[in-house]
Amino acid sequence: MKQNYVTLNDGNHIPQFGLGVYQISGDEATKQACLEALNLGYRHIDTAHAYQNERGVGEAVKESGIPRNEIWITSKLWPSEYGEGKSAVAIEKMLDRLDTDYIDLLLLHQQFGDYSGAWKDMERAVVQGKVKSIGLSNFESERLEELVEAANIKPSVLQVECHPYYQQNALKQRLAPYGTAIESWYPIGHGDNELLNEPIFTELAQKYGKTNVQVILRWHMQEGIIVFPKSTNPQHLKENISIFDFGLTDKEMALIRTLDKGVRFFNMTLAEQEQNLGKFIPAD
Ligand SMILES: NC(=O)c1ccc[n+]([C@@H]2O[C@H](COP(=O)([O-])OP(=O)(O)OC[C@H]3O[C@@H](n4cnc5c(N)ncnc54)[C@H](OP(=O)(O)O)[C@@H]3O)[C@@H](O)[C@H]2O)c1
Repeated sequence: MKQNYVTLNDGNHIPQFGLGVYQISGDEATKQACLEALNLGYRHIDTAHAYQNERGVGEAVKESGIPRNEIWITSKLWPSEYGEGKSAVAIEKMLDRLDTDYIDLLLLHQQFGDYSGAWKDMERAVVQGKVKSIGLSNFESERLEELVEAANIKPSVLQVECHPYYQQNALKQRLAPYGTAIESWYPIGHGDNELLNEPIFTELAQKYGKTNVQVILRWHMQEGIIVFPKSTNPQHLKENISIFDFGLTDKEMALIRTLDKGVRFFNMTLAEQEQNLGKFIPAD
């Protein structure tokens, strides 16, 4: 299966398309979804300590028989693991859960807590070869610039909600000076029916003999965004990766850009998000 790669600001090459495993419950189901995906040609898995399924990811990578250096694994530290010294310990535990010698991309999951201390440990982990690339997730406030300006290693990616209804154009401009790439979460709007059934996607799907979801994913690819739609359904897994054999024209890309209407599917305020952090207490 053909793959596209994005060159990050640290020179590493990340497969632009992968599998997200948020809300796949438990290690066994996660392992099965990852194995199915790897078998179909996926080479990038996005997990997090908070998803509580890193062991399933690690088992699938081992069982797949695919060389470790051909698979990109991203995971994320939770704010309760942030802090100089503390995050170094959390990284060791993550390596253990993933059963791997290194993590391809490690992110700070949320913009709360001692993220500055955590970033210092992440930079040290890069020097030590335990982590290849480091980045951020959900840093959309002024804390983004605060962290980036102080950082020795600039974040290679910022993972945020991004789809045709919320295209993150202002954020892309803020990131341009640092060469930080956008990773999309909710790339197909978490499966939202209104988004999936937009007439423009139906029209283009008919034109290219594709599905509406494939048109949306193809749009992300041509925008240069890194995507990892979640699925446990083998048909969807196959459908989602089958987007490398057609291309949208400049005019079609521009038409899809007009759908940008500032609609998010995740609407918690920063204060609500901070209050909710305690709902996940990471164990080893
Ligand atoms: N950093 C963060 O805070 C954050 C937050 C959210 C997500 N993420 C990451 O982003 C990934 C993707 O986000 P997401 O999983 O929430 O949303 P998503 O990928 O936009 O949508 C997933 C939903 O779409 C359905 N689906 C998948 N393929 C489909 C297809 N071909 N046709 C119809 N429905 C389809 C899935 O159901 P089936 O399983 O039945 O196919 C699931 O209900 C996550 O897994 C995670 O890795 C990160």
